[in-house]
Amino acid sequence: MRVLVMLDGTVTDAETPLIRVDDLGITRGDGVFETILVVGGKPRELGPHLDRLARSAAMLQLPVPDRAAWERCVQLVLDNWQGGDEMALKLVYTRGPEFGDGSPTGYAMGLPIGEKVRAARESGVTAVLLDRGYDPEIVARAPWLLLGAKSLSYAVNMAAYRHAESVGADEVIFVATDGSVLEGPTSNVVTATGNTLRTTPPSSGILRGTTQGALFRAAERAGWVTKVEPMTVRELKDAEAVFLASSVRKITRVHTLDGVVLPDSSALHKELNALYESEY
Ligand SMILES: Cc1ncc(COP(=O)(O)O)c(C=O)c1O
Repeated sequence: MRVLVMLDGTVTDAETPLIRVDDLGITRGDGVFETILVVGGKPRELGPHLDRLARSAAMLQLPVPDRAAWERCVQLVLDNWQGGDEMALKLVYTRGPEFGDGSPTGYAMGLPIGEKVRAARESGVTAVLLDRGYDPEIVARAPWLLLGAKSLSYAVNMAAYRHAESVGADEVIFVATDGSVLEGPTSNVVTATGNTLRTTPPSSGILRGTTQGALFRAAERAGWVTKVEPMTVRELKDAEAVFLASSVRKITRVHTLDGVVLPDSSALHKELNALYESEY
């Protein structure tokens, strides 16, 4: 069950070939995207996702996304969805065909959420630390590296997942060359120690997470202290609990890190998940 709507409002068959072969999104990964969780017909954090789409587009110097057109496009996907209670809503915005009239390509797609991701919300995951190969200092100096943009160039992120699988792990936590913790290939890292939740800062070249943002909002209201600051690998390993946060996986518990079983955080996971859900 999939629903595809082009940015001009055309509802179309997801099986039909539609993208031109010279689209720069395909030939160069030159574009941006978002993945939004929809539950019971309601998209979560739509505003922050559209804000981030605009931020990513600005970093790639793409035309400013037409927010009203995206909102209409999203609504059409919601109206046409006949799948289950949950949907992953993907927005894709590319520089368009290389030999076209310069118009960008945009579409929104409603997709079912994979069983593996849904199961991991309950069971938790094993994660490995992998070198991401950059020093956070480069972020400000080299904006052309697009660190922190949600660009379509996710081949490295997907390769990291394949590597993790080859060593028997489900997930990845990237580490910078200065030893600081970054993010997962498609998630943010959140730790809990005492009454404090921590995540790593966007200034280190990571994506500002909408799920982490929602969790921290709810946690602050419930009396938690929240911190967005650099984190060393030692601090990660010493935390009482480690979680990966993203739209489709919600708040997923890491139960094993680099082969070491972490203390049982199921109760804390339940508490944080309830806080996150209380936002909706
Ligand atoms: C690299 C990266 N970091 C973090 C996230 C989490 O962001 P969000 O919670 O907004 O889904 C994602 C989402 O896919 C991601 O790709």
